[in-house]
Amino acid sequence: MTTRLVTSALPYANGSIHLGHMVEHVQTDVYVRYLRSIGDDVTWICAADAHGTPIEVNAGKAGVPPAQFAEAHRQEQHRTFQAFGIAHDTYYTTDSPENRAWAYRIYDALKARGLIHKRSVEQLYCEHDQRFLPDRFVKGTCPKCATPEQYGDVCEKCGTTYDPRELKDPACVLCMRPPVVRSSDHAYVNLRRPEVAAIIQGWVEAEGHLEPAVRQQVKGWLADLQDWCITRDAPYFGFPVNDADFPGKFLYVWLDAPIGYLSSGEHYFAAEAPPERRLTPEAYRARYLDEGAPARLEHVIGKDILRFHAVFWPAMLWAAGLKRPDRMVVHGHLTVNGEKMSKSRGTFINASTYLESGLDPELLRYFFAANLSAGPSDLDLSLEEFRNRINADLANNVANLASRVAALLQRATGPVGSAAPDPEVVSAVREALPLARRAYGELQLREVVRLVSQLASVCNRRVQESKPWENPTGPAEQAVLYAIAKALGALALMLQPILPRFAAALANAYGLPLPTWTEWLDPFDGQPVAVREKPPQIARLDQKQVEKLITSSAEAPKPAKVAKGASPAEGAGKATAKPAAEPPVFGVIQYEDFARVELRVGAVLSAARVEKADKLLQLSVDVGEPAPRTIVAGIAQAYPEPAALVGKRIVVVANLAPRPLRGITSQGMLLAAGEPPNLQLVTVGEAIAPGTRVK
Ligand code: 2FM
Ligand code: ZN
Repeated sequence: MTTRLVTSALPYANGSIHLGHMVEHVQTDVYVRYLRSIGDDVTWICAADAHGTPIEVNAGKAGVPPAQFAEAHRQEQHRTFQAFGIAHDTYYTTDSPENRAWAYRIYDALKARGLIHKRSVEQLYCEHDQRFLPDRFVKGTCPKCATPEQYGDVCEKCGTTYDPRELKDPACVLCMRPPVVRSSDHAYVNLRRPEVAAIIQGWVEAEGHLEPAVRQQVKGWLADLQDWCITRDAPYFGFPVNDADFPGKFLYVWLDAPIGYLSSGEHYFAAEAPPERRLTPEAYRARYLDEGAPARLEHVIGKDILRFHAVFWPAMLWAAGLKRPDRMVVHGHLTVNGEKMSKSRGTFINASTYLESGLDPELLRYFFAANLSAGPSDLDLSLEEFRNRINADLANNVANLASRVAALLQRATGPVGSAAPDPEVVSAVREALPLARRAYGELQLREVVRLVSQLASVCNRRVQESKPWENPTGPAEQAVLYAIAKALGALALMLQPILPRFAAALANAYGLPLPTWTEWLDPFDGQPVAVREKPPQIARLDQKQVEKLITSSAEAPKPAKVAKGASPAEGAGKATAKPAAEPPVFGVIQYEDFARVELRVGAVLSAARVEKADKLLQLSVDVGEPAPRTIVAGIAQAYPEPAALVGKRIVVVANLAPRPLRGITSQGMLLAAGEPPNLQLVTVGEAIAPGTRVK
């Protein structure tokens, strides 16, 4: 058993999760679920990246403090990930006390090694906004090809990278006024010092850290190592530099962001992990972080942030006496219908838009897996291919096989066994399982999906050839049906990391628990099979359904504002003040205000009293997401027999920020009328499925 700390990149707490983020988190989630299925001890750390100029500026526009702005996004992002079955062990924040302490520790270590020096730098400064302008806050004409409206770092047209001071006719994107050049002192890390350069190079070249193509790219950067500026001027949202040499400066977001992996892990083990997994910060360091610690450290990132992770990060870790990563998985970007995601073309698809379209999140997980390999090539979400793949692979090949075979097996009286299971199916299973196991370990998810399809096709062919419907209880027919039932158990195991809910339902339907996936696992254990219930279905997708992703994205309203003084749960994006069409009437809300409250139908799965709290019940409620929600409600006096609530369809406020009640995190609120004891939950009929929006 290997112990691992796995991370995915920390999304900026500056907007909603989109399908581009989802590629990485699906890839990591599948990897983590696979590792757990083989028995590894895996902890998956993620967080929202809370600092930096854009968050500070957008929070200002929304009229809320940056910490509140970031927290609103953190919560919204976490909920979105959960709806896709993305099961981070923690989704913390870089704006935390633990991260501050770690950032100072690493800064101090760099300083103690004499790696920090002061340099005066000239930058563009907006006198109107009274701030230095990061590259993305300046626009002007490309000095090379003269294309107007280009950012301060790179021309989108000709690809030239430049210093923002080289732009012609530069303008501050906030006020459109021309900036001036000003100088300021900053802290730089000297990466060219031979011992530092050697550490980075050694890490880059060691086997197993990077894919060969990625390693080549990083080696190109090593040939031209530049010192790295790690401070920023006020106004900024970040940690103030704790060093009298740099008064008034802040740590650059890219210094404390990867440190967020370490600090979020510390927080998880100290405060969030189940009791048996808790670790003190010291024990956590010894097991996971210190040089020579036994656990593996593995990062999953996108190719755009490779330089920070493969050049700067190993140097920072080394300086602080911490182990360097054991593996860095680098994926490419998502394109939609062959093009870069674009808001104007409707191909910038938010994860919430996908959810609202009614498509099952597991289908997207499958499509991404079917197109992901270990390397950094881009992945295209062609809507046509998405539909075809789901229909051909999942609906027709796997789910249909499971239903047909279940129906045939159910014609037998009692469990079905066979002393001589169909040899072709048996050998196909015995071949596929170890290959899929290896492919998962290598993150060749595309190959896993190919192996799944191949095995399901063999099974389907054997059904066609042996025609078991002609005599379902005959020994030859049972040999085929039995072998396929076991093959479906193997398919469930192979699919479980990608389609956790579907695979669990499939295994359960056939009464085949998902075992630990050992190297020598052989499902042909001689045990008879009895179908327990109908296997899960996958409905075929039609064109309209998938096209809705684009039409809804094109129509999608601008992200909601974080209202001043509003609850942090209200999600926010780039907020531009727009005058209201009509003067507000006190006490009257607009439709958009109501629409922000997400009411959903939930089915009560269980209900029980909360110990030492006479008024509270703890409910488990299915709101159409992969996992049920825990909701704590003050309704105990109205429902003295909590079990009577099981099965009721109630209405849940689904986008309320989670909050702790008596040590339990309540993930929503129930609608009820009246006051206890004369209170009744608002209910709907059973014809309305869990997850249906109430509007
Ligand atoms: O590029 C980004 O979205 C960054 N927020 C990623 C940070 S990853 C890690 F370093 F924290
Ligand atoms: Zn300005």
